[in-house]
Amino acid sequence: MKIQVNQDFPIKVYFPLEGAELDMLGETTRAYVTGERAYKAEAKSVYAELGPNSENVLLVGLGKLEDLSINDLREAAHKAAGVLNANKVKQASVIAPELKGFCTRRIEKAIAEGFLQSEYAFDAYLTKKSECSLEAVGYLAPADKKETAGKGIEEIQNLMDGVRIARDLVNTPSIDLYPQTLAESATSTLGDLGVEVTVLDKAQIEELGMKAFLAVAEGSDREPRFIVMKYLPEGEQVPAITLIGKGLTYDSGGYALKPADSMVWMKSDMAGAASVIGTMAALAKNKIQKNVVAIIAACENMLSGRAYKNGDIVGSMKGTTIEVINTDAEGRLTLADALYYGATKVNSECLIDIATLTGACIVALGDEVIGAVTNDDELFGKVKKASETSGEALWQLPAPKSYEALLKGDVGDIKNSTGRPGGAITAGLFLKEFVEGKPWVHLDIAGPSFAQKPWSYYPKGATGIPVKTLYQFVVDHTIKGH
Ligand code: BES
Ligand code: MN
Ligand code: ZN
Repeated sequence: MKIQVNQDFPIKVYFPLEGAELDMLGETTRAYVTGERAYKAEAKSVYAELGPNSENVLLVGLGKLEDLSINDLREAAHKAAGVLNANKVKQASVIAPELKGFCTRRIEKAIAEGFLQSEYAFDAYLTKKSECSLEAVGYLAPADKKETAGKGIEEIQNLMDGVRIARDLVNTPSIDLYPQTLAESATSTLGDLGVEVTVLDKAQIEELGMKAFLAVAEGSDREPRFIVMKYLPEGEQVPAITLIGKGLTYDSGGYALKPADSMVWMKSDMAGAASVIGTMAALAKNKIQKNVVAIIAACENMLSGRAYKNGDIVGSMKGTTIEVINTDAEGRLTLADALYYGATKVNSECLIDIATLTGACIVALGDEVIGAVTNDDELFGKVKKASETSGEALWQLPAPKSYEALLKGDVGDIKNSTGRPGGAITAGLFLKEFVEGKPWVHLDIAGPSFAQKPWSYYPKGATGIPVKTLYQFVVDHTIKGH
C-alpha cells in the first residue's frame, strides 16, 4: 500500500469527533444519519456509503476528544482500512482530522501507521495468497499544512518495514528458521542498509567461553550462532545503545519438556531477536544518527543424548557457575552470556534485553503488556516514555533486593529457576547478575510478542512488539543530543 500526500481520490475517509457536524455529507444523507438512527461518531463507530452512485464516504468515529489517545487514532485508521478492504476499495483519500492537543505530525504518523498495520498477512506458506484491495491512500492535510505534510509518512513506512521484518521472522517455523538461517537473514536484511553484521559459529563461541549459551545449544543438531549487528553512524568511538534479543529459534523445554499445547507456539521464542533485527532495519532506513549495537545468541532448546539436563552445573562467560534446576529456563542462560558480552566486549552506554522469558510474566500482566525489570530507574523512565509514544504497553515489575537471595545456588553459584512465585521478577534478577552494573532494562515480551487471536491492529501470530518502542527510544535519545 502506498500512502500519497495530498493525493485526492473520489472516495473520502473522515474521522469525526463525537457529536461533530457531519457537513461532509450531502443533505439527504445528513437528514438520514441525523434522524432517528443517528450516527453520533462514537469511538470506532462506522458509517459507510461506498457503493456505486453513493456519496463515496467512510466515517470512522473518534469518540470524545478528552478520551482520545494517539493509539485510538491508529486503531481508527486500521478500522477504516478494514472497511475499505471489505468493500474492495482500491483507492481512498483521508481528510486529516484537526484535533486540539494533537500536533499535525503525530496525527499524520498515527493515521499512516493504522493503514499500514492493516496490510500485514503471513501467507508465505499458503498456496492461496491473501489479497488486500487497498492499493493507495491519499492523505489530505489541512489547507495551511499542505506544504509541510508528509514528512512523517516516509518515516512510518520505514518503521513498519521493521515491524514486518520482525513479524515474518517470528512467524516462520523453526523447520526453516534456525540459528544459521536467522543469521543469514540478519546479514541479508541489514547488510545493504549499512549495518555491519558479524556471525560467530560454534567454535568461535567456544573461544569466547560462553558456556551457559553452549549448554543450551548442545542438545540440537542445528549449531548455534552468535550474531552481532553494529550500526555506528556516530563513529566507532561513541558508546552505543546495546539491544540484546533472546534468540531461541525453538524451545521444546529440553528434558523439562513442555506439554504439546504450550510447545506449539515455541517457534516464537526468538521474538526478542526478531525485534532487534527489525529495529536495526528501521533505524538504518530512517538514517537515525545514533550508535546502536544489537546482539543475538541464537540456538534451539532440544532433547538428545548430548542435551543438558536438570541438575547439571554449567559455566558462563562471566566465570560464575549456574545450577540448572530446569532446562526450560534456558533463555536466561543464553542471555547471561549475551548480556555479559554486551557489557564487557561492546562499547555500550546502556543495555536493553528483549526476551520471551517467562510464562509468569503472562500470568502477572496478561497478553498485552510488556513486563520490565531494571537496575536504573532513569533509563527505565526513557523506555517507558517511548512505549507511551508507540502505544506498546509496558509496566515495571518490582525487583526487591531481598529476592536476589532466592537465586543463590547450593552446589553452583546461582540457580536458573527459583520456582513459580514471582517468576518474571526472579528471571529478571538472574539477568542482572550478568550486566556488570551497566544501566540496564529487561523487557519480558512472552505475552505481547505473539497473539493467539487478533487484537487492536495486531494480526493473529507475531505482533512485532516492541520494535516501535525500541525505535522510539533511540530516536528520543538522538533528539536530546546524548
Ligand atoms: N520461552 C519460555 C517462556 C514463554 C512462555 C514464552 C509462554 C512465551 C509463551 C521460557 O523459556 C520458559 O520456558 N520459561 C519457563 C521458566 C520456568 C521453567 C522457570 C516458564 O515460564 O515456565
Ligand atoms: Mn523455556
Ligand atoms: Zn524459552
